[in-house]
Amino acid sequence: MLAAVRDASHRRRVLDRLRASEARYRSLVEHMPAVTYLVRPDGAVAFISGRVSEVLGYPPEQFEAEPGFWARVLHPEDRGRVCAAWRRAVETRGRFSLEYRCLSRDGRAVWVLDSSVPVTLGGEPFWHGVLVDVTARVRAEEELRRSYELLQRVDAARRGLTTELVAAAEAERIRMAADLHDGPIQRLSATVLRMELATRSTADPALAARLAALTEEARDVIRSLRRVVYEAHPPTLDRHGLGPAIREHLREAAACHGFQVELEDRLEREPSPEARTIAFRLFQEALTNVMKHAGARRVEVRIASREGGVWGMVRDDGVGFHPASAESPMEGPTPGSRAGIGLMRRRAELLGGWLQVRSAPGSGTTVEWWLPVGETSPVGT
Ligand SMILES: Nc1ncnc2c1ncn2[C@@H]1O[C@H](COP(=O)(O)OP(=O)(O)OP(=O)(O)O)[C@@H](O)[C@H]1O
Ligand SMILES: [Mg+2]
Repeated sequence: MLAAVRDASHRRRVLDRLRASEARYRSLVEHMPAVTYLVRPDGAVAFISGRVSEVLGYPPEQFEAEPGFWARVLHPEDRGRVCAAWRRAVETRGRFSLEYRCLSRDGRAVWVLDSSVPVTLGGEPFWHGVLVDVTARVRAEEELRRSYELLQRVDAARRGLTTELVAAAEAERIRMAADLHDGPIQRLSATVLRMELATRSTADPALAARLAALTEEARDVIRSLRRVVYEAHPPTLDRHGLGPAIREHLREAAACHGFQVELEDRLEREPSPEARTIAFRLFQEALTNVMKHAGARRVEVRIASREGGVWGMVRDDGVGFHPASAESPMEGPTPGSRAGIGLMRRRAELLGGWLQVRSAPGSGTTVEWWLPVGETSPVGT
């Protein structure tokens, strides 16, 4: 008798515990921020948690009572791939995991992440799954992709504009160089010839000496003007390309300034005319700085085709400087002086590239840049 009473109270405690644990499970299922479900291989819903009414607007009973209701709420554009993935999961008794759209009761497209695993309950096969509303995330991703595409289009337009500007500026320089060549240089050359004639024809040695000195000065002016014409647009750049133009410029600079030079040219393809003009200007400005400020004994120049663009480097073993203090045009002796490095950087960035200056007092200077370029032809063609 006593044993029977003890047995009965034990059963009650076990049942109470079971009920409590089922209540906890139900509460968990109903309060978790996702829909949970149990579905048979034919798609019939055995159980679906109440949260489905918040996500799709339909009561859970509708899914459980109407066979095929699940398939009806699928977005028509996604129905094919969802059914195919479901058939695959059933055939292989494997996991089902897919992101797709459903249509809510009020006609909204709701993106869900649906993930389920096969389980056996009471000897029968089911898929036990979780369905999460990921509409906000998908919309944010779409928005991000649209913004990114817009940014890319704007960037492409900006680059196109920069390329046109570079071409226009270069055309203007060439015009100015041609005017200088055909006008003042020709006239000055003719004047020099007449002065030479006058020097030879005068009987006054003092006057001849003064004329000879003046003639030499005029020749000097012609040389400077020719230099300006050359630098406005080195003919080698168009005729033979970036590598040879750099080689020629470097050779002349070394001869004037007495430093040793080393050039490594690993260009595989010739950059587009606009990019090669900018690349040449960056090299020219870096080398001018070496000549003006570095007091270098050795200058190393490298150019190469890299990552769909042209990369360049000018390194010297001169006095070096603090780069941070150098890049403020207002700090120079007059506003606008010391503009070189800042302008180089802006030119590179306008084309979508970059420029870096590494230096420290006593440790030389390295200027490195990269420009994304439309390449035209293999080098040497
Ligand atoms: N290779 C170098 N070696 C040593 N100092 C350098 C070198 N390049 C630049 N500098 C220092 O950095 C400063 C800024 O250079 P930046 O080219 O901007 O101006 P700048 O050459 O003085 O004038 P600008 O280029 O406008 O004619 C220079 O005044 C110089 O002090
Ligand atoms: Mg400079």
